[in-house]
Amino acid sequence: MKVEFYRHHLGPAEFAAVQEAMTSAFLTTGPKTTEFEKRFGEFLGVKHAVGLTSCTAGLFLALKALGIKEGDEVIVPAMTFIASANVVLQCGATPILIDVEADTGVIDVECVKKALSRRTRAIIPVHLYGLMADMRALHALAESHRVALIEDAAHAVESERDGLKPGQASTAAAFSFYATKNIACGEGGALVTHSADFNDKVRLLRQHGMSKSAAERYHGKYQHWDMLELGYKYNMFDIQAAMLLPQMRTIEANLKRREQISAYYETEFRKAGIAFPVVRAGARSARHMFTIWAPLGKRDSMLQSLQEMQVGVAVNYRAIHLLTYYREKFGFKPGALPNAERIGERTLTIPLYPRLTDAEVEYVAKSVVAAHAK
Ligand SMILES: Cc1ncc(COP(=O)(O)O)c(C=O)c1O
Repeated sequence: MKVEFYRHHLGPAEFAAVQEAMTSAFLTTGPKTTEFEKRFGEFLGVKHAVGLTSCTAGLFLALKALGIKEGDEVIVPAMTFIASANVVLQCGATPILIDVEADTGVIDVECVKKALSRRTRAIIPVHLYGLMADMRALHALAESHRVALIEDAAHAVESERDGLKPGQASTAAAFSFYATKNIACGEGGALVTHSADFNDKVRLLRQHGMSKSAAERYHGKYQHWDMLELGYKYNMFDIQAAMLLPQMRTIEANLKRREQISAYYETEFRKAGIAFPVVRAGARSARHMFTIWAPLGKRDSMLQSLQEMQVGVAVNYRAIHLLTYYREKFGFKPGALPNAERIGERTLTIPLYPRLTDAEVEYVAKSVVAAHAK
């Protein structure tokens, strides 16, 4: 048997929606994007959603909207995808990379407290694999220190914790619709926020700082537009939105399947003594990825064995402070952020997506147990 690392679940509904969008007047940002923004904001219970070309664009524009610049510091966990920290550097500011919880890989609130300084302007918690960070604690901390909270919710569309969803207790939350995400359109993203001012600012920044979008210019007679500030070009377009809209209807059913598969893996791995990140009580994980923690020193041989058994694998993630660029720029040495490093050396991601059959799930679990026992 061969089990791909990922196969998307797009089908006739998405194909038809894209075809419809292609025959309409708008290939760019138009009515489909507006409809998606409305639907996505409603799903999360957050007032405003802005469609963008990626989650990276969302994080970057959020920092830009806050006016974050050279001399400012932004706190970021070291166990994440590089985008979470790169956007800070792209604004000219300094990412302060900190450690994560040993049993989840999620940002450690105690480490945030130690990292706060006079220069801190924002904290970027990452809801790793779909498990939300402790947003209640982070919200209280951010309020008392008057810093912004920008959630990296790339993995977390369906996540909840302690009664909160991403975007409900922060300045803004950024989502990814990259090819392998729980809802996907190849490349795409969104930013959600309760703040009308923040929403206006991000809308301006996503399209060159122009006072009118193409859709606004299209209606009725030609109207002049103005450039109000220096912006970027990160607007979601209607073909992306068309592909995403039907997925908003299947999101809960797909999450159920992810939960079933995860529960099966957890039972089998517990029996075999294989470690994996815990989901905290009071949390609903979006179950974006399933990673196991191999015994120290054995991860790469397990990767090899699993590939020989035709099971698709990946590593999410190696701790980013030890990647060449960050190590050289900031002079990090191994041992600086021990939990992130330990997870980074042990983590191994296995297939988790709604289209997996029961037979495939059983084969993956059996293969992982066999590779672990080698
Ligand atoms: C945790 C995390 N943050 C940010 C991103 C960036 O998302 P995008 O590719 O949509 O820019 C990713 C993408 O994989 C991610 O996993």
